[in-house]
Amino acid sequence: MNICMIGTGYVGLVTGACFAEIGNNVICVDNDARKISTLKKGRMPIYEPGLEEMVHKNVRQKRLSFSLSIADSIRDAHFAFIAVGTPPRSDGSADLSYVENVAREIAVHMKKYLIIVEKSTVPVETCEWVKRTILRYNKRKIPFDVVSNPEFLREGTAVKDFLQPDRIIIGAESEKAKSAMRDLYGPLKAPMVFTDPKSAEIIKHASNSFLATKISYINSVANICEKVGANVEQVAEGMGYDARIARSFLSAGCGFGGFCFPKDLEAFLWISKKLGVDFHILETVRRVNEDQKTHFVHKVEEALWIIQGKTVGVLGLAFKPNTDDMRFAPSIDIIRMLQERGAAVQAYDPISMANARKVLKGVKLKDSAYEAAKGADCLVIVTDWQEFAEMDLEKIKKCLNHPTVVDGRNLFDPARMKRLGFHYYSIGRPAV
Ligand code: UDX
Repeated sequence: MNICMIGTGYVGLVTGACFAEIGNNVICVDNDARKISTLKKGRMPIYEPGLEEMVHKNVRQKRLSFSLSIADSIRDAHFAFIAVGTPPRSDGSADLSYVENVAREIAVHMKKYLIIVEKSTVPVETCEWVKRTILRYNKRKIPFDVVSNPEFLREGTAVKDFLQPDRIIIGAESEKAKSAMRDLYGPLKAPMVFTDPKSAEIIKHASNSFLATKISYINSVANICEKVGANVEQVAEGMGYDARIARSFLSAGCGFGGFCFPKDLEAFLWISKKLGVDFHILETVRRVNEDQKTHFVHKVEEALWIIQGKTVGVLGLAFKPNTDDMRFAPSIDIIRMLQERGAAVQAYDPISMANARKVLKGVKLKDSAYEAAKGADCLVIVTDWQEFAEMDLEKIKKCLNHPTVVDGRNLFDPARMKRLGFHYYSIGRPAV
C-alpha cells in the first residue's frame, strides 16, 4: 500500500520506517526542512535502537522517502497518517493546531478516496473535528474515512513495540476502512481490536493514565514501606503474582517523566473536566508524581544533612534508559531542587548530553559516571541505565568524597552496598 506519514517525530518516523519494513511504500513528510534534509542525508533526528538501520535499508530499497510536501506525497496514497505533535498547552489541554493544519492540507490536496488515520495521541472527539475539517476544505467532495489508530510505542523500544504490539486498535466506522486497516496491519499478526473512533481515542488516554496510576500507586506504597522498614520491591513482587495486578509498572522510583505520561494525564484530565466528569484519581496520580521528586530530594538531605555548598553527582538525565529524551524528565526538577538548596551539581548520562546542554543550567556535564562521582559528596541515581547497574562500585567509592549513594531507581542490592561500605539510600527500602 502507499502511505503518506505526516510528522517525522518519535511516532511518525518509527511508524513510517516500520510500515516500509513490512512492505509498504512510505513517504514521510515534515514541514521542518532541517529535519527532512537530515533524514535525506541518512542521519536520524532521534535515537531509537534499530531505527537507523531500518531507515537506510528501506530508503535503499526505495520503499521509504522523505518530503516537505503533503500535496506531492498524498497524490498516490491509500492512507494519510497524521503523526504530528499534540503538545500540552498551559491549561493542560492538547494543542491540536498542527493536527488541524494537516487535516486541512490533506483535504485541499487529496485526489481520490483516502483513509486519514489519526496516529497522534488526541483527546476523544478529535476524529469528529478532523472529519468536519476535511468536509469543509475538500471542495471536490472526494470520499474519505477517518480512522483512529493510536500508538503504544515506548521510547527506547519503539521499533520492537511497533513490530510486536500487544494489540492494534482500529477505531473506524466504515467496513471499507476496517478491511483496509486489517490488510495494512495483517503482516504483524497481532490481536486487532475494532471499535468506533471515539472509543479508540479513549483507549489511548485511558491506557497511559492507568500505567501512570500504577506507578504513582507503587510510589505511595513505597513511602509506607519506608516508614515501617518494609521492602517495596518484595511487596511489588508479592502483588505481581496476581494476574489481575501483574508485576510490570510496579517499580517504585523517583517519579515518571517523558513526553507521554505527563502530557496524556493532563490532556485526559482536561477533557474530563470539559465533559463535566471529575477524574479525581488522575489529579492524585499527578500530585503523587510531583511529590515523589521532592521526597527524593529530601532523601538526599537525609543523606547529606546540609546540601548547601556540597557537590552532588547525578547519574542519568534522560526520563528513562535507552533514549536521549529529556522531556519532563525527573532529573530536571530534581537537579533544580538540589541547586535551589545550594548544591553544586555535576552530571552524566550515556546519550542525553546534547539535550542536557539545552535544558540544564549551571550543571557540570561529565564524560562518565566516574567523572560525575569524582569529588562529589554523594552520588544520586535518577535514570536506571544498565551501564550504572554494571559500574565498578569500588572505583565509584574511591571517586566520591564520601561513600554515599542515593538511588532513585533501586538499581542495587542494599546488603551488597553495605558490604562495600556505602551509605545507601533507595526508594521504599531500608537505608543502610
Ligand atoms: C509510555 C507508554 O508506556 C507507552 O505505551 C506510550 O505509547 C507512550 O508512553 P514511554 O513514555 O516511552 O511510554 O516510557 P515508559 O517506559 O512507559 O516509562 C515512562 C516513565 O515511567 C519513565 O520515566 C519510567 O522511568 C517510569 N516508570 C516506568 C516507573 O517509574 N516505574 C515503572 O514501573 C515503569
